[in-house]
Amino acid sequence: MASPNRFEHIGFDDFRRFAQDESMSKYERIGFPDSYRQGFEGAIFEDICAKLSNLKKTSRTVVDIGPGCSDLPKMLIDLCASNEHALTLIDSQEMLDLLDNAPFIDKLPAMYPQCPEWVAAQAGKVDVILCYSVLHYVFVDVSFFRFLDVSLSLLAPGGQMLIGDIPNISKRKRFFASETGTQFHKDYMNTDEPPNVEFNRIEHDQIDDAVVMSLIQRARAQGFDAYVLPQNEALPMANRREDILIVRP
Ligand SMILES: C[S@@+](CC[C@H](N)C(=O)[O-])C[C@H]1O[C@@H](n2cnc3c(N)ncnc32)[C@H](O)[C@@H]1O
Repeated sequence: MASPNRFEHIGFDDFRRFAQDESMSKYERIGFPDSYRQGFEGAIFEDICAKLSNLKKTSRTVVDIGPGCSDLPKMLIDLCASNEHALTLIDSQEMLDLLDNAPFIDKLPAMYPQCPEWVAAQAGKVDVILCYSVLHYVFVDVSFFRFLDVSLSLLAPGGQMLIGDIPNISKRKRFFASETGTQFHKDYMNTDEPPNVEFNRIEHDQIDDAVVMSLIQRARAQGFDAYVLPQNEALPMANRREDILIVRP
């Protein structure tokens, strides 16, 4: 199986440090080797926009939880400028300092959802929440059900939340147990050895099918529609990651 990359098991405070480390690339600062993001972020943003259809409308309220500092938040900022959306970016101060300022952008330095005053003020007003490649950090750092419940309380009628790029260890195992995944592993690792896949084993601090399905059920139990969606197969981790889209009817 492809070896875990050196950025696994990092948390909010590590990202603060990365943000200030000028020896790291913009992709390394958000926890990715360059090869996972360089040249792919246009396609990633297209996939996000296809799912968050409210972004195509005008004058909406948009929130990005954990925007990081690569080109993805810059694309979102440009789209919000064009479509006259109000945009709130929530991340560490150090990460937010790496992103542009503009009158339509509100920067909230916080480890979400630990920003109760802002949450209370925004309840029921948000049309789009993007949280891309962040859930696996939230899952370890804070209560992920609280993260979900607080986020849903923000959504306006018709509001959409994309919890994107979720590394689901169950999906990863299914892939590496398949013929396609075995060949992928052999090519990627330049080996004749098949990947080592262990089913029926709890993987601590990893998101699995149980976590993904529990988020779907908990959102639905609160009156929201919730779906597990695949990523465009052109995306670099589409074979082991997936997205959750939640919509307030
Ligand atoms: C892997 S990066 C993803 C960045 C961006 N969303 C992307 O996909 O390019 C994770 C980002 O989430 C931020 N983050 C992690 N936990 C967070 C939390 N609880 N609240 C706000 N930001 C968080 C980190 O500081 C980092 O900028």
